[in-house]
Amino acid sequence: MKRRPTLLVTGGAGYIGSHVVAQLGARGERIVVLDNLSTGHSRAVLHGRLVVGDIGNQRLLRALFREYRIETVLHFAARIVVPESVAKPLEYYDCNTAKARTLLAECERAGVEQFIFSSTAAVYGDLAGGQASESSLVDPANPYGRSKLMTEWMLGDLSAASRMRHVILRYFNVAGCDALGRIGQDTPEATHLIKVACQHAVGLRPNLEIFGTDYPTPDGTCVRDYIHVEDLAAAHVLALEYLREGNGSLIANCGYGHGFSVREVIDALGRIHGQVLNVRESGRRAGDMASIVANSDLMREWLGWRPSRDDLDLILASALAWEKQRLARAEIQADIPEPAVTGWRKSAARPGVNP
Ligand code: UFG
Repeated sequence: MKRRPTLLVTGGAGYIGSHVVAQLGARGERIVVLDNLSTGHSRAVLHGRLVVGDIGNQRLLRALFREYRIETVLHFAARIVVPESVAKPLEYYDCNTAKARTLLAECERAGVEQFIFSSTAAVYGDLAGGQASESSLVDPANPYGRSKLMTEWMLGDLSAASRMRHVILRYFNVAGCDALGRIGQDTPEATHLIKVACQHAVGLRPNLEIFGTDYPTPDGTCVRDYIHVEDLAAAHVLALEYLREGNGSLIANCGYGHGFSVREVIDALGRIHGQVLNVRESGRRAGDMASIVANSDLMREWLGWRPSRDDLDLILASALAWEKQRLARAEIQADIPEPAVTGWRKSAARPGVNP
């Protein structure tokens, strides 16, 4: 019997991966999620089979590629916190680079020809004007960006030497949750501005710090291009279609093309929340760039991307609603275990293979 083509989504129980799985599952795609649940949650996997395991486990990967006819790998599993990468660089090179190499080697061995990679705006250097197009200089300011850039290079070289074709999506600053409020950013120890600010707004943190007020930006605080997670997830669905149409490899920025400063984000959140936030000014955080905003013409032209949530207030309202809901859930369900994954089937990897 011919095996049905399946999508392998690494890190599909995490924040962005789970939103992509939700959109792919809603389209009826057959999905296997591979996630070690280090930061992800089984309850976030709304479709497909969840295999609990690590992308660095060669035996596990080999077993999965044997069991399923993997058409496309969507690779999200990664460490993603810039300041942590500065403090623990080797952990980032291990997870984001060395383990990605293991995954790519197993893809090559299994004859996988389509690969979608979660990369980052952190691969860019400090650019004059702060706007990055895909041809802008790559010169990461931190180990996180370097660990991702090395994987971009590996993927590029592998595609040049084989039948592999890829789409590399360089994410800007992602926030928000899905429209139905089922999934969102679920890591309590997150460091990202919008997450941290929402945690403060709902009372989970006593204050909010602004890291650096002396940057060469209009108000002295860093400028970022904030993108709603649902628009970012939609870009992956388009990337899959693009590869299925037989198109060649592509690198594309995923951002809206305009930036907001840390102060603007905090002010907007305070307005939406209806309360003044308790904000402190601190020194610069290691590894931060002053300003980075996407030129996303390529995404729009080549992938036909039409974002529908390009609105900072909407992003913040979505992130805040998620945080409130998360808090309520934690209070109500403190001791209720995670629900089983619905949909196709949940199981651990085969005995003896799972780490
Ligand atoms: N910031 C604060 N206070 C906080 C948290 C963050 O002032 O409590 C500031 C940071 O110093 C930075 C800005 O808010 O200036 C955004 O920081 P985040 O930690 O939210 O995000 P980063 O820009 O460091 O990194 C994120 C993703 C990367 C991506 C990058 C691209 O984690 O994957 O955006 O801009 F590459």
